[in-house]
Amino acid sequence: MDLGVSMLKPAANNPATTPELTDALKASVTTKRAEVLALLKDAGAELGNITFANSYGAEDMVLTDIIMKGSLSIEIFSLDTGRLPAETYTLMAEVESNYNTKPVVFFPKHEAVEDYVRTKGINAFFESIELRKACCFMRKVEPLKRALNGKQAWITGMRAEQATSRASLPTREFDESNKLEKFNPLSSWSEQEVWAYIRMFDVPYNKLHDAFYPSIGCGPCTRSVAMGEDVRAGRWWWEDPNSKECGLHVKK
Ligand code: ADX
Ligand code: SF4
Repeated sequence: MDLGVSMLKPAANNPATTPELTDALKASVTTKRAEVLALLKDAGAELGNITFANSYGAEDMVLTDIIMKGSLSIEIFSLDTGRLPAETYTLMAEVESNYNTKPVVFFPKHEAVEDYVRTKGINAFFESIELRKACCFMRKVEPLKRALNGKQAWITGMRAEQATSRASLPTREFDESNKLEKFNPLSSWSEQEVWAYIRMFDVPYNKLHDAFYPSIGCGPCTRSVAMGEDVRAGRWWWEDPNSKECGLHVKK
């Protein structure tokens, strides 16, 4: 099986991460930035204890920048699965120094990981959807439950355009699985707007994006995509597109 260990391609000619900053694009990003800021401020005033799930993907860097520069009292946390690509840790360190902050990180329970690896194998998630979902559960979903414990709302960087399963993604919804409010402030943003924001405000980002990784998760389960391919085509690429959610965002 191709394990997705692809060579990094040259960054210079990736049009997805270097959109032409036209006046119309800049105006749209400026308006949408103000809308997101207002939404997050209102959410904070209404609900108080809010947390933002930061995967360090491009969308999440936009939200990190808005939250940090706006000095919003919103916690930012990440789920460190133990299998993230090296480039994501490099970005974590860059975010630390850029925004003068330390990351709030939730790790999987070590007993669960030790048991899975001893009984199933180090890369058993390639063998079946069940083993893949069990890995995602132990490395992401269970730690997410702890991250959301005691919170009134959480924020994600999901966009409607990312997947057919996200096509009708609302800006605000009630998360039945976790029993709290959920905000998806970038729901209506295009990929172009995300990258225009990153370029306009000089936001740090994961260098894998330049190498044609539009969506980045764990190292072994993410690979680069070809020009014109779906933005999530590189995630769990060996599976049917309809099963490509890790369990963080399932609806009851
Ligand atoms: S996933 O469900 O397929 O992994 P995706 O990578 O598209 O999700 O990310 C969607 C949103 O889920 C991100 O914008 C972020 O809010 C949250 N998320 C995903 N992975 C993580 C992570 N490792 N840590 C924190 N939040 C995450
Ligand atoms: Fe495990 Fe892959 Fe899911 Fe990461 S994305 S938790 S390595 S199955």
